[in-house]
Amino acid sequence: MGEAVYIASSKGGAGATTCAYRLGCALSELGERTLVLDGDRVCADGLTVSGLDGMNVYTLADAASGACRIKQTVLKHGKCANLFYMPALGCTDGDFIARAAREMCDTFDFVLCDGCASSACGRAVVVTEPYASSVKAADKTVSVLKDGGMKVGLILNKVNGGLVCGGNIMPPADLAKLLRCEAVGVIPEDLSLPLGKICGRTQRAFSLAAQYISGGQKKLYGVTRAYAGPLGGIKKKLRRFV
Ligand SMILES: Nc1ncnc2c1ncn2[C@@H]1O[C@H](COP(=O)(O)OP(=O)(O)O)[C@@H](O)[C@H]1O
Ligand SMILES: [Mg+2]
Repeated sequence: MGEAVYIASSKGGAGATTCAYRLGCALSELGERTLVLDGDRVCADGLTVSGLDGMNVYTLADAASGACRIKQTVLKHGKCANLFYMPALGCTDGDFIARAAREMCDTFDFVLCDGCASSACGRAVVVTEPYASSVKAADKTVSVLKDGGMKVGLILNKVNGGLVCGGNIMPPADLAKLLRCEAVGVIPEDLSLPLGKICGRTQRAFSLAAQYISGGQKKLYGVTRAYAGPLGGIKKKLRRFV
């Protein structure tokens, strides 16, 4: 029996869909059969992020109307073995989406519910950027989820190591303390992600988060590591001019 995990965005654009897909890839690489349930009812953003655009034949809207069975909406990812995808696109019945998530726990190790099916999940991961507006929104989201009896972890996304070193943004550990949550992932800012690519260090950060979430080693990616040592000191100084 697998586990459904609710992936929540502190506020739109914080990176929940990106994290759901990239975590899905990283979990699948660890050998965990993973399904990403894309809760976006309007544009199936996850399909675009995961490069599966145009491939969905059925969505949960079709399953809800009886045109197909729930499992027929599952798409296999072409590149990541063990990674599957389910679009909720067009489905307005939240209970039906939650039912689909529960049902999928029979066949998958992890069902990552991107912005949907929270009632089917015992655990949530809140994705937040390290900036004030996002942290404020995360604070509210964490409170609501905890009040609902959920165990909540945090992914600190788009963390710029240079800004942390310069004291411009709070270090990930302090942010987690402020939000009263265990950080399960720290993901660096990676400007190749919006272009559909990923840097090696970001991949490593997602792999560590996947290990944390799946009960493996509890290690977080060190975003400030590149700014340590004599070379790092020069980098830090150069940052002031760019
Ligand atoms: N670590 C990151 N570094 C840089 N850009 C990111 C990162 N994570 C996500 N993004 C970008 O942020 C934008 C919003 O991400 P998305 O996953 O759609 O957010 P949400 O689902 O929370 O609305 C996208 O353009 C995405 O590529
Ligand atoms: Mg999204």
